[in-house]
Order: sequence, then structure tokens, then C-alpha cells
Amino acid sequence: MSAKGPKICMIAAAAENGVIGRDNKLPWKIKSEWQYFLDTSKGKPVIEGRLTFEAHGGKPFTHSPDIVITRNKNYAAKGAILVHTLEEAIDRARGIAAETGADEIMIGGGAEIYRLGLPLAARLYLTEIHANPEGDAHFPAFDRAGWTETKSEFHKAQAGESADYTIRVFDRRK
Ligand SMILES: NC(=O)c1ccc[n+]([C@@H]2O[C@H](COP(=O)([O-])OP(=O)(O)OC[C@H]3O[C@@H](n4cnc5c(N)ncnc54)[C@H](OP(=O)(O)O)[C@@H]3O)[C@@H](O)[C@H]2O)c1
Repeated sequence: MSAKGPKICMIAAAAENGVIGRDNKLPWKIKSEWQYFLDTSKGKPVIEGRLTFEAHGGKPFTHSPDIVITRNKNYAAKGAILVHTLEEAIDRARGIAAETGADEIMIGGGAEIYRLGLPLAARLYLTEIHANPEGDAHFPAFDRAGWTETKSEFHKAQAGESADYTIRVFDRRK
């Protein structure tokens, strides 16, 4: 962890047309990319919107409790920390990171939460799915001139996977 505390990161997989979801599901099946998400988020606090939390069955993504953002003060979710603003989510995530030593806070979507989180993020783990599916949730447009691509790693679809993909990481230029 740096002296300034954990880095605020976003982690997403977006198709070439920007689509990240359809009917509150991922529009592709790519087991190895999902494993990459789990491995990259492991041991780090994950922040997500209420719809994303429900999209994965209302169960935490990782072993640490998910931090779920909802406007609904009566929402109940086992295994999740409920908050009502992104700022509150980040405060809780910083508290967890201070206890566990996690060096990154992960904003894990969906579209509404990525839009709120983008101005705060210093790093984007943004996998590009080489497909153009129909969808109703999109990753927000961002100006690549403000970011340096620090990783680009092509993966061919394995048996049973619906598309090739490229793992990319972008760090915000200072
Ligand atoms: N490809 C990927 O990497 C990826 C990752 C994550 C999700 N997804 C996909 O993204 C889609 C879901 O995205 P989404 O945009 O529909 O939903 P979302 O961002 O997951 O959640 C939206 C919910 O978050 C809460 N919320 C949003 N803004 C808020 C604010 N300012 N203050 C308090 N609460 C706020 C609200 O919950 P309440 O309604 O309870 O108030 C809102 O309904 C799904 O299709 C999912 O599969 C894709």
C-alpha cells in the first residue's frame, strides 16, 4: 500500500462495442476471464451496485464481504456490507484495506457504478472481449489519452468459451 493508501481501481470486461451486460447478465461465457477477475480481486475489497450483486446470486464475489451500493435503506443482503453512496463505499473499503493490508480497492460494476467511479479511479483492469453482443449496460466512454496502457495480453477462446479476449490494464497519467 502506498503512503496515500490503497489504489482505487475498476475491474470490468467490455465488448468491442462497449457492452458489459444484458438483462442483468454477462452476454458471454468465458470461464478463464471470470477466473482472471476472481484472481485479480482476491483479498481486495470489492464495491458493486445492487443489480450486479443480484446478478451473481446475491453472494459475495470473493472471500471478503462485498460492499453493495443501494439507495434502498431497507435492503438486506447476507454477506454484504450495505452503503448508500460511492463515497461511503470507498470509506468502508479503505477501512477494510487498512485492516487486511490490501493495496487496491476494486470497483466491480455495473454500468451505473462504473460511471460514478471512473473520475476516482487510478487504474482500470479492463478486459476487451472480442465480440459485439447486444446489451443494455455499457462501460462509460473514457479518453484514452489520459491513460497509459501497462498490460495487453491476448487470449484465444478455449473450448466452451464464447470469444477471444485481451486483458488490458490502464494507469491514469499523472
Ligand atoms: N462485464 C462486466 O465486467 C460487468 C461487471 C459488473 C456488472 N456487469 C453487468 O452490468 C449490468 C448491471 O449494471 P447496472 O448499471 O444496471 O447496475 P449496477 O450499477 O450494478 O447497480 C445499479 C444500482 O446501484 C444503486 N445505485 C446506483 N447509483 C447509486 C447512487 N448514486 N447512490 C446510491 N445507490 C446507487 C441502485 O440500487 P437500488 O436500485 O437498490 O437503489 C441502482 O439500481 C448487468 O448486466 C451486469 O451483468 C458487467
